[in-house]
Amino acid sequence: MKTTVAVYDAKPFDRASLTAAEGAENIDWRFLEFRLDPNAAHAAVDAQAVCVFVNDCANRAVLEKLAEFDVRLLALRCTGFNNVDLEAAKELGLTVTRVPVYSPYAVAEHVVALLLALNRKIHRAFNRVRELNFSLNGLVGFDLYGKTAGIVGTGKIGRITAQILRGFGMRVLAYDPYPSPEWAQQHGVEYVDAGALAAASDIVSLHVPLTPDTKYLIRRETLASMKRGAIIINVSRGALIDTTDLIEALKSGQIGGVGLDVYEEEEGIFFEDLSGQVLQDDELARLLTFPNVLITSHQAFLTQEALADIARTTVANLRALADGSPFVEGSVLT
Ligand code: NAI
Repeated sequence: MKTTVAVYDAKPFDRASLTAAEGAENIDWRFLEFRLDPNAAHAAVDAQAVCVFVNDCANRAVLEKLAEFDVRLLALRCTGFNNVDLEAAKELGLTVTRVPVYSPYAVAEHVVALLLALNRKIHRAFNRVRELNFSLNGLVGFDLYGKTAGIVGTGKIGRITAQILRGFGMRVLAYDPYPSPEWAQQHGVEYVDAGALAAASDIVSLHVPLTPDTKYLIRRETLASMKRGAIIINVSRGALIDTTDLIEALKSGQIGGVGLDVYEEEEGIFFEDLSGQVLQDDELARLLTFPNVLITSHQAFLTQEALADIARTTVANLRALADGSPFVEGSVLT
């Protein structure tokens, strides 16, 4: 019998990659264009598995409903799992899996795309030239060569980011409570404490998961301790940064530029076409007015390679549910 899976927040690229993965023909796909929340849980009725992404809500109320429908597996097609109540899942006997590894290059390369665009003002130049404004005023950037980058979190993505930035001839500092001295030595990266990283870095890039400990890692005090005019890049999770404090730091010039692929209130906004609507989020609206803020809509993972990796692990876990074989190593959260 085929496993039925309700895929929430499914976009055309999700359909294409999931149905192309090996073994996908043995799955009865139920693609849903809306996000999972307490009102949308009923769409999983008769499904044995539910597949969700970063902005789906899997809190206790939702998980209780899924368990009532005899859903046995919640398969996250992402790495982060801050949107799932794992305690509740455990109590309900619901298996939760994620994609522990997929192309870290996809995400790290997006960091560099944001950094280069922001620093060299490509977003502004693109718009100018289209209007036949060939002036260079206001487009002065700086050489990355010789500058200092601070990498917060040297897991899979932070390391690749550090290595790429070393390739520009940057000095790279790193902070991680679980450092990897061998890797650092091999790539010429220096581990320092968080305070020293903030004080010395021209560019700070965040690569830590969102947990109660890391929420608002970047807030008034941390912003004040950074080098004046520093650039911050966040492709990890929005709530690592206190947006209200960030806006103040941008207004005062303490922070010289920000590249964001994530935003603390992105749920319901990112991934949607709201172009015909009035934006209700005043802080996002304010951020969009700064010439030195560049925002993308949580797309750092969006490469063919990363999507194929995500689909491979997700389909393998759905198949494991069906035939009782082991789940993909490192993917089981409960
Ligand atoms: P990882 O688990 O390999 O590495 C995370 C690192 O952060 C670990 O080395 C850990 O020790 C460190 N860490 C934890 N707390 C810390 C703290 N307070 N200060 C400094 N370091 C700390 O994770 P990976 O794969 O590198 O991903 C990082 C994050 O990137 C994910 O948690 C996810 O939120 C985000 N992400 C975003 C994507 C996007 O499309 N924008 C795509 C994939 C991941």
